[in-house]
Amino acid sequence: MRLDRERFRIERPWLGLGLVVSMAVIFVADTVTNLEIAVAVLYVAVILISVRFDQPMMVLGTGAASTALTLISYGLTPRGAPEAGIANSALSIVAIGATTYLALRIEAAEARVRQARSELAHMSRVTMMGELTASIAHEVSQPLAGIVASGSAAMRWLAATPPNPAEARRAIERVVADADRAGDVIGRVRRLVAKAPPSRERIDIVDLIEEVLALTRSEIRQNRVVLRTDFANDLPRPIGDRVQLQQVILNLIVNAAEIMGGLETGPRDLLIGAAAGGGQIRVSVRDTGISLAPAAIERVFEAFHSTKPGGMGMGLAISRSIVEAHGGTIYAAVNHPRGMVFGFTLPLDS
Ligand SMILES: Nc1ncnc2c1ncn2[C@@H]1O[C@H](COP(=O)(O)OP(=O)(O)O)[C@@H](O)[C@H]1O
Ligand SMILES: [Mg+2]
Repeated sequence: MRLDRERFRIERPWLGLGLVVSMAVIFVADTVTNLEIAVAVLYVAVILISVRFDQPMMVLGTGAASTALTLISYGLTPRGAPEAGIANSALSIVAIGATTYLALRIEAAEARVRQARSELAHMSRVTMMGELTASIAHEVSQPLAGIVASGSAAMRWLAATPPNPAEARRAIERVVADADRAGDVIGRVRRLVAKAPPSRERIDIVDLIEEVLALTRSEIRQNRVVLRTDFANDLPRPIGDRVQLQQVILNLIVNAAEIMGGLETGPRDLLIGAAAGGGQIRVSVRDTGISLAPAAIERVFEAFHSTKPGGMGMGLAISRSIVEAHGGTIYAAVNHPRGMVFGFTLPLDS
């Protein structure tokens, strides 16, 4: 089960400290007890724990250190039968070697799972950007049209008799602002489709949501969705991967907009909330689309489950794996009087 979920790489200095302390305790116990008592097999537990660092070198290093300490203990232990000591040390070293080998295999398997998952997430992001192309093109073409209009205006102000440099300057300032806007949209798309290894940084969740909204603005408008946001002030900043978390929010927003875009009647309200409490950050995306039956809710996070023509059914599956890799939970519930609320929590512990 643990292999199933990518553990988010959060450096845990205390884990390293725990490892060193356990090895020291085992070493001392192994040295002060008689040679007949094989304390050294306990190093096996330390090696298994070292897998949690997600680094093969850590596993190998712990194995090597355990072997060395076992041998040193044997030399330092004053009491006991030497033959029993040799047999015990040899057994311990065999156990340490075998465990190190198995731990390395586990580590390699986990690395492959992480890799596959990150590639899948990347692919789904690229696909999603493809689906949003019309929307993104619109976001870029608007400032471009603005640039053309303001540029022409600037030329007119300069050609006028007498020329009006103050107005021309204001028009050129609008050109620069529009160019910045277009550049921002393109920058956001590039960051989302860039192939970068998972990162961990302090996340300003409101900022993150607003970046996603900037990319989905036209999508929201085209589906005639009314957007509201409700962000608590001074939200604490969880640690996570910016791009991955944006992908989750993007999936939830696009799903809600798509569902409401197909409505015949009724309001199309989208409420995005962010709040903190109980050591967690909570993000929720509430729509007034269609309320799913309990049996359908159970299936929405399954891979390849889609009720849309041409739907991949990967959005929520990938979102769940991202949220769980961050130590959080994703959920779906019925919204009253209609629609659904999808949301997720992120822990604030570290
Ligand atoms: N906001 C929502 N309201 C109702 N149903 C939803 C909502 N979001 C997702 N679903 C359901 O969950 C399914 C899976 O969603 P997802 O994993 O994003 O894949 P896709 O969007 O490709 O269908 C959708 O096909 C839809 O049936
Ligand atoms: Mg989707």
